[in-house]
Amino acid sequence: MYQCQLRAADPQLTEELLWTLEGMVAIDYAVQQPGVLRVYSTTPLAENLAGLGQVQWLTPTQPVYEQDWAESWKQHWHVTPITPQLTICPSWLAHTPSNPSTEKVLTLDPGSAFGNGTHDTTVLMLEQLDALSQQRQGLAQTSVLDVGTGSGILAVAAGLMGATQIMGQDIDPLTVPVAEANALLNHQPHITWTATPLPQLCLTRYDLVLANILAPVIVELMPDLACRMAQPDGLLLTSGIIHTAAPQVVAAAQACGLVQTHMATRGQWVALTFAAA
Ligand SMILES: C[S@@+](CC[C@H](N)C(=O)[O-])C[C@H]1O[C@@H](n2cnc3c(N)ncnc32)[C@H](O)[C@@H]1O
Repeated sequence: MYQCQLRAADPQLTEELLWTLEGMVAIDYAVQQPGVLRVYSTTPLAENLAGLGQVQWLTPTQPVYEQDWAESWKQHWHVTPITPQLTICPSWLAHTPSNPSTEKVLTLDPGSAFGNGTHDTTVLMLEQLDALSQQRQGLAQTSVLDVGTGSGILAVAAGLMGATQIMGQDIDPLTVPVAEANALLNHQPHITWTATPLPQLCLTRYDLVLANILAPVIVELMPDLACRMAQPDGLLLTSGIIHTAAPQVVAAAQACGLVQTHMATRGQWVALTFAAA
């Protein structure tokens, strides 16, 4: 794992651009230092990288040992309420829900996998998932495929909302044990996890397909996502999409016979929901 710090003239823009780079694991904002981003990645970040916007490097890219990484990350991550019904709690902290009959607490240790519930795209996905669960009075009748599951946060959230048939998938095999451990922390042993690439995954259809991955990957995977949606009422919830890339995702979905039914935004990020046309 590598870490560096930089001050950005437009931190949101720089953050978006950073997330498009391979190996990006976490980006956080230094408290009380406006514009300062701490960047964690599995490959070193080149300081001469073009197109990051106007940035000043405060500390160069340096390796951090897994142990240091885990500890430094923990200091900056707190209990995170997402909606009145869902709170994310780091596994090393305790949280007592204000109303245990309505508030679910998702206990999580993302390790080095993406998805601790603080990134805008994860929040967008959790909000959509929660809204759907409210509409349907729980997800007990809803099967879920979570593509690009990372820490497993979305799949586990779906489980806490009542879904019993859930599969979490990621191309990074290192996410599987992390997601599995998070499922067990939340008493969701029935979730299945796989690192089989989506095109090779069996063609089971799901009521809800989730994909919080970057726009170019969603566009590439669109035929494989669409053909795993239940007919005729399956939904595809996507995020990880910078707002300027939304038209490409919509066009790819339309080409696969889908229609956009909802859009939500947070900062520069967009979440798009699709159904069969
Ligand atoms: C932005 S993270 C999302 C993690 C988590 N689902 C969340 O919402 O916070 C994207 C994840 O997608 C995975 N990924 C990237 N390309 C993929 C692909 N082609 N198929 C499946 N997963 C992919 C990455 O390894 C990473 O774990």
